[in-house]
Amino acid sequence: MWAVLPVLCAGAWLLGTPACDAAALSVSAYEKFHFKSWMEKHQKKYSSEEYHKRQQTFVSNWRKINAHNAKNHTFKMALNQFSDMTFAEIKRKYLWSEPQNCSATKSNYLRGTGPYPPSVDWREKGHFVTPVKNQGGCGSCWTFSTTGALESAIAIAGGKLLSLAEQQLVDCAEDFNNHGCQGGLPSQAFEYILYNKGIMGEDTYPYTARDGVCKFQPKKAIAFVKDVANITLNDEEAMVETVALYNPVSFAFEVTEDFIQYRKGIYSSTSCHKTPDKVNHAVLAVGYGEENGIPYWIVKNSWGTYWGMDGYFLIERGKNMCGLAACASYPIPLV
Ligand SMILES: *[C@@H]1O[C@H](CO)[C@@H](O)[C@H](O)[C@H]1NC(C)=O
Ligand SMILES: *[C@@H]1O[C@H](CO)[C@@H](O)[C@H](O)[C@H]1NC(C)=O
Ligand SMILES: *[C@@H]1O[C@H](CO)[C@@H](O)[C@H](O)[C@H]1NC(C)=O
Repeated sequence: MWAVLPVLCAGAWLLGTPACDAAALSVSAYEKFHFKSWMEKHQKKYSSEEYHKRQQTFVSNWRKINAHNAKNHTFKMALNQFSDMTFAEIKRKYLWSEPQNCSATKSNYLRGTGPYPPSVDWREKGHFVTPVKNQGGCGSCWTFSTTGALESAIAIAGGKLLSLAEQQLVDCAEDFNNHGCQGGLPSQAFEYILYNKGIMGEDTYPYTARDGVCKFQPKKAIAFVKDVANITLNDEEAMVETVALYNPVSFAFEVTEDFIQYRKGIYSSTSCHKTPDKVNHAVLAVGYGEENGIPYWIVKNSWGTYWGMDGYFLIERGKNMCGLAACASYPIPLV
């Protein structure tokens, strides 16, 4: 992987970009020391060639984090497990590389008129949300958004709080336009579970973070879907209604570079898009609220508990921020 960078840099230089920033940083002793501590904390090991490149990327990220935090933004950034990677690398490994069929999804959700409570948090209402999971280096966010939504919907409907098998969706759901580690959509995954007649548990179909052959065993299915609700394109108020009255809701949005090092606060961006063709990550809204006049969603991510606020983030609500209302859905469980 390290060999790719000089080629990209050379290309940029030929096109007239004055310098290849990543290769030109002069790194202070303090920054070198900080990189070493970060490596230790995250148990990172590199070859001697890779070390230099990772140090450059780390320092570039760290400087961006410090510059961001020095300004009065509604969210703070911090170093995390991604800090030695460029955004291009993260995109390839963790996000959808090509657009999914978000806008093709037909809606069937009819919204009421409210009013809705000012805040909701399904984590506090009872035993309704499973612990944050970690997708690893596979573009399978959509499977975690799917299992998270179904796990909660079943528990809220009176069933047990189960942990369901993302790997089954990675391996088996391709007939519904899903593509394993290359992407997919929660709405399409709910359809798969509906027509496949069930999904197995995490314990009987463990997660490997790799594409694999389908090993679904019908007798071991423990969770079932009887219908899928697709929320109307850009109807963020319908998402509020869903979370207020029914259960958490799966949604997709566009992750841009500044989101990767999110630490806490209300994420908001001026660089992301709002259209369904640009969304590249799926997650689960488990609540909403408002702070200092800024409404937000409470969102469960699938990048482990070390990331963000114990694996969660807040994102500004009411503006279709980063296309978050482009592609929302939830399952109606069979309990
Ligand atoms: C920072 O932003 C908050 C909320 O937007 C505002 O209330 C506060 O006055 C700002 N502080 C500074 C120092 O600009
Ligand atoms: C979108 O839907 C079309 C038609 O069903 C399908 O051929 C195409 O592969 C889908 N694209 C993705 C990325 O799933
Ligand atoms: C909901 O969306 C999925 C996939 O995006 C689609 O297959 C399904 O037909 C939609 N449901 C309805 C009722 O339109």
